Amino acid sequence: MTAIETAAGIIQKGGVVAFPTETVYGLGANALNPRAVARIFELKERPSFDPLIVHIADMEQLKVLSSSEDPRIWKLAEAFWPGPLTLVLPKTEQVPDIVTSGLPSVGIRMPDHPMALDLIRESGCPIAAPSANKFGRLSPTKAAHVKHHLPEADYILDGGATRIGLESTIIRLEPDGFQILRPGGITRDELVKVLPESLKRARVGSPEAPGMLESHYSPSKPFYLFEPEMLSSIVPSEAGYISFQGEIPAAFKKAFTLSPAGDLTECATKIFSVMHELQESDVAVILAEAVPEEGIGIAIMDRLRKAAHPWDGDPQAPQ
Ligand code: TXA
Ligand code: MG
Repeated sequence: MTAIETAAGIIQKGGVVAFPTETVYGLGANALNPRAVARIFELKERPSFDPLIVHIADMEQLKVLSSSEDPRIWKLAEAFWPGPLTLVLPKTEQVPDIVTSGLPSVGIRMPDHPMALDLIRESGCPIAAPSANKFGRLSPTKAAHVKHHLPEADYILDGGATRIGLESTIIRLEPDGFQILRPGGITRDELVKVLPESLKRARVGSPEAPGMLESHYSPSKPFYLFEPEMLSSIVPSEAGYISFQGEIPAAFKKAFTLSPAGDLTECATKIFSVMHELQESDVAVILAEAVPEEGIGIAIMDRLRKAAHPWDGDPQAPQ
């Protein structure tokens, strides 16, 4: 039996399988089986008000989940699927309430990863999957991250490091435009190219989106967005540092450079994995430099701000 067949058998029996996508690893279950989906919430320790994204392998499965006939869905699907775009659409009755936290809408995406697509096809059902981490913690970009932090998963499909490294962009279609509920792998500019009529009404950010908590993606150690004045309170030889292009302002115990060439896409692929590495290392505090807020840099800064603690001058404070 292949790994995909084993994993699909577990999904069909109501189990929970971690699998790679092009963004981050997901923790999946049969989206149409409420008891299986309940186990995702249990294993992740995820609050029930935070809805899940449902993953599909073809447009036939989309029809099972949403009866929306908005022609923009097809334009977006043609341009970005399979890929890192999640559409929030009105749901059908077949989608269990537990998947959507009782909302009348469901988040749907077609992942761009052969193992994810094979798993969905072999299982014969859409797969509900949040990122495969404990609630509020760092998203996994390698199977080893899942093994370490979610050993309770029934099975882990190992597809190596994920290509994009940051979660999908989530959008909600509105009558006169769209709203970006979470910035991610697809930028606003790329979306507006496909939906030019939305140019004026492509809004970013929404306080009312469920699951969009201020604090999220947190390493288990104090984590701050770097400001030069912090150097007077922090002991560099006990701290970890994440540099954008490689200028390291002190002799830190461990320092990583995201992209010497200043390539934001390269930064996106590395950011969670570098944060995991520093979290598992013996540094006491982690500092990360801001990156330019353009293109995918908007999604990177969204994750860094949510991971960071407010600075009050005491590096050990958040413990
Ligand atoms: O790249 C990704 O999107 C990854 C991979 C595994 O596909 N998944 C992921 O899922 O990041 P998760 O659970 O970490 O984030 C899902 C978020 C929720 O927190 C919520 O904010 C939003 O998607 N969401 C899901 N359904 C929604 C709905 N009906 N209305 C509004 N927001 C929704
Ligand atoms: Mg997540």
